[in-house]
Amino acid sequence: MVLKSTKLDTEALLLEETLFHTANGYLGVRGNMEEGFDDPKSIRGTYINGFYDTVDLSYPERLYGFPVQAQRMINLPDIQTIKIIFDGNELSPLINKPAEYERTLDTKEGIAKRHLIYTVGEGTLSVIYTRMASFCRPELFLTVLEITSKNLSGKLELKAGINCDVRNYTNPDDPRVAAESVRHIIMDDAKTLDDGGYVCCSTSASELEVALLQRYKATGMDISTRATATGVEINLTTHINTNKKYSIEKYSILSDSIRQPKPVEYALGAADEYIKAGAGALLAEQKDYMDEFWHVAAIKTEGNKEVEDTLEFNLFQLLQSTGRDGITSTASKGISGEGYEGHYFWDTEIYIFPFFLFTKPEIAKALLTYRHSIINRARENALIMGHKSGALYSWRTISGSECSSYFPSGAAQYHINGDIAYSFMQYWYATGDIEFMAQKGAEVLIETARLWLDVGHYSADGRFLLHCVTGPDEYTCMINNNYYTNRCAQANLKGAVTVYEMLWQQNAAGHAEQATGITQEEINLFEKAADAMWLPYDEALDINPQDDSFLEKPVWDIAKTPNDKFPLLLHHHPMHLYRFQVCKQADTVLAHILFEDGIKDSTKRNSFDYYQRISTHDSSLSRCAFGIMAARLGLENKAYEYFYDTLITDLENTHGNTKDGLHTANLGGSWMVTVMGFAGMRLNEKGLHFKFMQPGMWNRTCFKINYLGRIINVQMERDKSKLSLEKGQPVDIYVNDEKIRLNQTPLELPHT
Ligand code: BGC
Repeated sequence: MVLKSTKLDTEALLLEETLFHTANGYLGVRGNMEEGFDDPKSIRGTYINGFYDTVDLSYPERLYGFPVQAQRMINLPDIQTIKIIFDGNELSPLINKPAEYERTLDTKEGIAKRHLIYTVGEGTLSVIYTRMASFCRPELFLTVLEITSKNLSGKLELKAGINCDVRNYTNPDDPRVAAESVRHIIMDDAKTLDDGGYVCCSTSASELEVALLQRYKATGMDISTRATATGVEINLTTHINTNKKYSIEKYSILSDSIRQPKPVEYALGAADEYIKAGAGALLAEQKDYMDEFWHVAAIKTEGNKEVEDTLEFNLFQLLQSTGRDGITSTASKGISGEGYEGHYFWDTEIYIFPFFLFTKPEIAKALLTYRHSIINRARENALIMGHKSGALYSWRTISGSECSSYFPSGAAQYHINGDIAYSFMQYWYATGDIEFMAQKGAEVLIETARLWLDVGHYSADGRFLLHCVTGPDEYTCMINNNYYTNRCAQANLKGAVTVYEMLWQQNAAGHAEQATGITQEEINLFEKAADAMWLPYDEALDINPQDDSFLEKPVWDIAKTPNDKFPLLLHHHPMHLYRFQVCKQADTVLAHILFEDGIKDSTKRNSFDYYQRISTHDSSLSRCAFGIMAARLGLENKAYEYFYDTLITDLENTHGNTKDGLHTANLGGSWMVTVMGFAGMRLNEKGLHFKFMQPGMWNRTCFKINYLGRIINVQMERDKSKLSLEKGQPVDIYVNDEKIRLNQTPLELPHT
C-alpha cells in the first residue's frame, strides 16, 4: 500500500513521525522533516535497536532485589537534517507554504518520500526526499534528495550534518515513557571527510560506543565540511540553472560497539562499499527484498481493499521493527519511538513471533537466539528473586537484566518464562530444526521449566500450585494460581520433557547436556508437576477463573465509567484496581487460544462471555485475543469488530499514543486474528490445523504459510477453502481435525 498524507498539519506531526518512520530491525529513524522542526510537537529520533544507556532507578524505600539500574534505548545524534536555502531564503514547509505537499510510505518498495513544490518568483522548485533504511545493509540509512528547478536560477545551498546535541523524549505524567531527561550521548570525536564527516560517541553510563558517519554524492555541487563542538556541519552549494535536476545522495551509516569491535572503521568501510554500489542499485535491492518478503507474507482480502492495505501496513511495520541479528528482539514500540524505552517484553514471543515463524522463519529463529543469548542473565535474575535453580527471564529488558521498577505488574509476571518456552516449542513444531533445539532450545526449555519447580509447591491434596504471581492482566496483581500462568507453566514443563526425550533418545543432546546437567529424575519431577498443575475451574459458571480469588471480588462497573477515565491506569491507584474484577487485557481467553487442549467448548464460550464483560482493553494486546477467540467460536460479527479495532490501532491512533511508537504486539495481533482466528490455524505436537471461517465482510482471503520448509497456499472463501503446496514435498496437515495430505494439486474443502 501507499500511505499518503497530503496536508502539513503540525498537530498531526508527532503521529506521522511514527507512521512514516523508516527502520530495518537494526536502525530506526522517525519521520521527522529534513528541514528541521524544533518544537514540542515533534520528537526527533534516531535509534539503534538494543543500543542503550543505563539509568539509575531510585526508590526512597528500596527493598532487597529491586533493580537499581535499567536500560534505555537512546536517542542518537541527529542525522536527518538537510535545510534548503535558495538565494539566501530558507525553504521549509513551515516557513513558506509549498504549492504542493505529499508524504508517502510505500510498503511494497520499502521507502518513504516527501514531495514539495515551492513557488519562487515566477518559477518553481520541486523537492523530493526519498528515505530508505536498507533491509539488505542494516547500517545504512539512505536519503536521496532530488531538486528540480523550473523557470528559475540562483544559488542553492544545503545545510546538513550530524548533531550530537540530543536528548531522549520525556513525559513525567505518563508511566509509559521516560520521566527524567538525561544526557545519554557524549561526543568523543568529530572528523571531517572530503564528502562528509563522522562522529564517535559514547554513552554516559553503559560504556557503549557508536559511530555515525555521513557521506554525500552530489555531482555538480561544492561540498564544505566543518567539525564543531556538537558534531559535523556539511554544506553543499551550487548555482542552479533553470530547468535543471540535481540529485544528492546522502549515505548515513550507523555502527555500534555491541555488534562491531571498531565501529568507526566498520562505518568507513561500509560507506565505501555502499557509495560504490550507488543509490539506484541499493533502492533496487530493497525492492527485490520486499518482493521476496511479500511473496510469502502478503494477505489478500479480496473485496475489501481497506483491510488488505491496512494489513499490509501492519506487516510492513513488523518487518521494520523486528531485530534479526540474534542479539536483539522487537521492542514493544519497535524502533519508531521511545515509549517503554525500547524494552522487549512477552509481546515478541506471543504476538509477533507467530507472524515471522510462519512467513520468515529465519527471523523467528533470530528472535529465539536472542532469548538464548541472555539465558545467563535469566539465571542471575532467578537467584535475585530467591530461586535456587533455573532461569527467570526479566519482564522488561534490553540486555537481559530486569528494568521494571514496579514489580507487581513487572517482575511478578513470571508467565514470561512460559511465553518464551511456548515460542521455542512452536519453532520446533513448525521447523523440525533439531540442531537448533539441541544447541539452544533445550537449554532454555529446561532452565525455564526448572524454575516452576522452585516457584510452586504441592497442596495437601496433591495439586501443584503457583502462588503470588501476576498474569497478563495487569489490573490484577500478585495472586495465587493465575490460570494463564499455570497453563503456560504446565506447557513449559511438558515441552522440556518432550525435548529431553527427543534429544536424549537420539543421542543428540550435545550442548544441552552439559549446559543443564539434567537428569531423568528431574525430568520425572517436571512430568509430575505438569500433571498435578492446578487449573482453577468454576463449575457453576463453567469458566476458568482468572485466579483463585478472582471471582470473590466485586465487579467494576465499566458501563458507568466515563469515557475520559480510560485507560484506568492513568486515573486510579493500582491498589484500587486490584480489588475489582476488571481486566486490562485478555488473560484466561488468551490461555484458551494458546493452550486449548482439554478445554470444553462450553468453557471457552462462557469464559469469553464472562471476561468480555469485564475487560477494558486498555492494553493494545487485548482486542486481538478476543477477536481470535470470537472467530474460533463462530461469532462472526464480534470477531470482525475486534479484528477491525486491532487492525486500525496505529493508523487511526485509537489508543492516542502512537506518537510514542507503534504498538507492535497489536500489529502482530492483526495477522493472528486473520490466520489463527478466521482461518483457525494452530500448531501443536500433532501438527498444523485449520478450521476456516471466512468473514462476510470480504469475499476471499488468500495467504501463505511456511511449514516444515514447505510453502502452503491457503484460499479461504465463505463456504469452502482451497489448499495446495506451492513448494516442497507432500505433507500432512489437519482441517477440521481430519488429516489430509497436501500436495501441488489444490484440494477443495467445503466448510462444515
Ligand atoms: C501491557 C503488557 C505489555 C506492555 C508492553 C502493557 O500495557 O499490559 O502486557 O507487555 O504494555 O507492550
